[in-house]
Amino acid sequence: MFVHDENSKKKRLSHIAFIMDGNGRWAKKRGLPREAGHTEGAKTFMRVAEYCFAGGIDTVTIYAFSTENWKRPPHEVKAIMTLFASYLKRGIKEMTERNMHVTFLGDKAPFDPDTRELMERIERESAKNRYKLNIAVNYGGRAEIVNAVNRLASKGITEFSEELIESELYTAGQRDPDLIVRSAGELRLSNFLTWQSVYSEFHFTDTLWPDFGESDVDAAVDAYYSRTRRFGGVV
Ligand code: FPP
Repeated sequence: MFVHDENSKKKRLSHIAFIMDGNGRWAKKRGLPREAGHTEGAKTFMRVAEYCFAGGIDTVTIYAFSTENWKRPPHEVKAIMTLFASYLKRGIKEMTERNMHVTFLGDKAPFDPDTRELMERIERESAKNRYKLNIAVNYGGRAEIVNAVNRLASKGITEFSEELIESELYTAGQRDPDLIVRSAGELRLSNFLTWQSVYSEFHFTDTLWPDFGESDVDAAVDAYYSRTRRFGGVV
């Protein structure tokens, strides 16, 4: 289990975010359909979140489905949505048992009414739980900012500030991610947490997401504590 470097309060790792990439390659390597990679990836997601919370991290954010992922072949989108729906059905019980407070980041409008209702119910019923779990679905960082500005405009606001825009983001009231981890070797952000990531630290690993385990989290946390965060100032 990783340990926190408690020397500097400013640096304490409180919020970690994951881009879970590599499910498709993991399946391909085994001669399996891509969907099998997503099934395995969904299990990894729950294990990793639990491990982070057990290690004293307060918030875990996971990028499950982007606004661009709808462009995938229809059978793959369908498989991901079915997987997502089955997690939601088990969700209320599991999240409560694990003391997780779930928020879905993203536009819920394209989901079918049952799925939407379930997402809202999980958010409501887990609201008093201790550990913050954000699941980004149908999420795009640019779309999130546009949505925030439109919401402000619809209230008649014509002059914007960072604080006002932040108050309408899906993550309103939450701390920005201290660390963003991406699996499977790609070195990009792919429209994830565009606003919130401006001072995040980044950690990239070649491990494919379904293989991502405790030692990968430990390595990411170690890398984080080896950095000096200056937030534009001087240390
Ligand atoms: C990235 O791997 C993975 C996705 C875009 C989808 C992940 C979705 C799930 C695991 C399903 C449900 C989510 C929850 C929260 C239960 P990739 O397909 O881009 O992999 P590749 O780059 O190797 O092709």
